[in-house]
Amino acid sequence: MSERHGAGHGLSEHELSEIRMLIEERTGIHFDQSRERFFSTRVREHLHDRGFTRGNELLRAIRKTNVEYETLLERLLTQETSFFRYPAVFDAFEKRVLPELHAIKFWKNPRTLRVWSAGCSTGEEPYSIAITILDSLSFADAWNVEILATDLGRQALKKAEHATYAGRSIASVNEQQLAAHFTAVNGGFQVKPRLRRLVTFAQMNLASPVYVGRMDLIFCMNVLIYFTEERRRALVQKFYESLEPGGYLFLGHSESISKMPVKFQAIVLGDCILYRKPTVEEVQKPELVAEGRA
Ligand SMILES: C[S@@+](CC[C@H](N)C(=O)[O-])C[C@H]1O[C@@H](n2cnc3c(N)ncnc32)[C@H](O)[C@@H]1O
Repeated sequence: MSERHGAGHGLSEHELSEIRMLIEERTGIHFDQSRERFFSTRVREHLHDRGFTRGNELLRAIRKTNVEYETLLERLLTQETSFFRYPAVFDAFEKRVLPELHAIKFWKNPRTLRVWSAGCSTGEEPYSIAITILDSLSFADAWNVEILATDLGRQALKKAEHATYAGRSIASVNEQQLAAHFTAVNGGFQVKPRLRRLVTFAQMNLASPVYVGRMDLIFCMNVLIYFTEERRRALVQKFYESLEPGGYLFLGHSESISKMPVKFQAIVLGDCILYRKPTVEEVQKPELVAEGRA
């Protein structure tokens, strides 16, 4: 084992790399060179705060108990988010996707819309989805809307369930939306029950095999960028399989799946790319698909 220690922290490069591999193996999160400093600083802070003097004590503890592992993991998650983080995506969702699904499902009984926010962090994304649906889907109350919001971080999910936001997080919520969907409370604005009832939060590791049922829409924004290429591919394949034909996958701005072997139809709308799963007829007759494939 290498004895090269980080200045005064009792943590060798070898131990850091063992921890990095353990996190990657269990969560798919990859700490590349650009995030190396973030990683080692957070692990050192954790070592210090938990009162461990040597890296091998920390390693032993996180291998042995889930609680120790999860407290370290919480520090290593990047959970930056905000309401309507990419306005262009929500614009496309409102103006293109919802009208399309409305037309397809109008005569269905029950009229169900199932959405998955995968990697929802502190809840801003699934609540933004819920606001968009309630404000723009005709007769929204006649629909059975289910939004499943999942994340690995338990602290983030607690915050999401509390649903109270302030400052930068709600900077893109307009006056009308604020009045319609939030109540002013101590410490900010709390999402109203009508909206909260649409969203179910659950702890879920996207690197583990999970079954969520069929979805009409999947939002997985700013999550894949942290994953290894292998996990990214596996997850995009899983999203494809989980989507209903004609369903959509929404990714973050810098996340492209164009080199992956999945047959999504890529739809470029202004500033964003939407990924649509073709219907069975479109798979059989590709000429039915107007726009290019990813
Ligand atoms: C940067 S946030 C993105 C939040 C939101 N989707 C957005 O775009 O604003 C990334 C989220 O992915 C979650 N995450 C990372 N790895 C995960 C995994 N293996 N399983 C589930 N969630 C994960 C993190 O906890 C974090 O909340």
